[in-house]
Amino acid sequence: MNTVKVDFEDGIAWVSMNRPEKKNAISVEMAHQMVKLMDQLETDERCHVLVLTGAGESFSAGMDLKDYFRATDKASAVERARVYRLNGAWQWRGLLHYPKPTIAMVNGWCFGGALTPLVACDLAIAADEATFGLSEINWGIIPAGVVCKAISTVMSARDAMYCVMTGETFDGRRAAEMRLVNESVPRAKLRARTQELAKTLMSKNPTVLRAAKTAFRYSARMSWEEAADYLFAKSDQSIFQDPERGREEGMRQFLDEKSYKPGLGTYKRKKG
Ligand code: ACO
Repeated sequence: MNTVKVDFEDGIAWVSMNRPEKKNAISVEMAHQMVKLMDQLETDERCHVLVLTGAGESFSAGMDLKDYFRATDKASAVERARVYRLNGAWQWRGLLHYPKPTIAMVNGWCFGGALTPLVACDLAIAADEATFGLSEINWGIIPAGVVCKAISTVMSARDAMYCVMTGETFDGRRAAEMRLVNESVPRAKLRARTQELAKTLMSKNPTVLRAAKTAFRYSARMSWEEAADYLFAKSDQSIFQDPERGREEGMRQFLDEKSYKPGLGTYKRKKG
């Protein structure tokens, strides 16, 4: 794999879009390789948290205009649909439902189609110095793929419309203000802060974390009545599937052992 790369470190899989000379623009080959890599990492014990970032000075300059637009313009409708489906398989379907926690670490340029995987990650941290933009309007298209849909799930309509209609750039701090990312830190601290957040996630019970992600995503689209019933069942499923029996252990350590306060931290896990 040459257009994506992964480095493992203390439970974190640092996954980079890796075409730095092209500002990590997303090519069809990159989409193929990312789908394959994410599939492998699902069962790789070295990956407890997946961090998505970009090699060099860019997160990603969005879809590769040459490869994803000019080249596929000439393809048949079926082939065109195939390459877009391939991209969706990692950029949103794959990331939205990934069984392990995901963090987008936005280190630099982040345009157009790159906002989809950014939003689809569970959490996102940007460098203050990163440059974002919904640049589609600047070259005569709408933010398609699923970019409009993605940003509508995290940004206010006013902010999203402003970015969609002006194509103006904004930095990491502004991205945090608009809730496109959770927070923004100076670039020099970006990796350390991301590592710290990943460690917090790794201290939690992974079975419950997986259920909590799914519970949030699905219940957000349900009525209150449906959500109440679904979440009741989801909670039971999570307890049933949990090899750590975390719920019982958590209660035991708080109520009987009095060794921790759930309001202030996580129960002591045997491993993890
Ligand atoms: N698609 C294809 N090639 C790209 C893309 C892209 N999205 N972004 C950068 N490249 C290529 C450039 O064509 C250039 O190739 P070359 O070396 O063969 O000439 C190389 O990457 C380096 O890019 P430069 O433009 O020279 O780098 P610079 O630092 O001057 O500018 C910037 C960086 C601002 C990111 C600029 O490359 C740019 O505007 N890229 C396009 C951003 C964009 O609008 N993306 C599409 C969003 S819409 C969508 O994703 C659906």
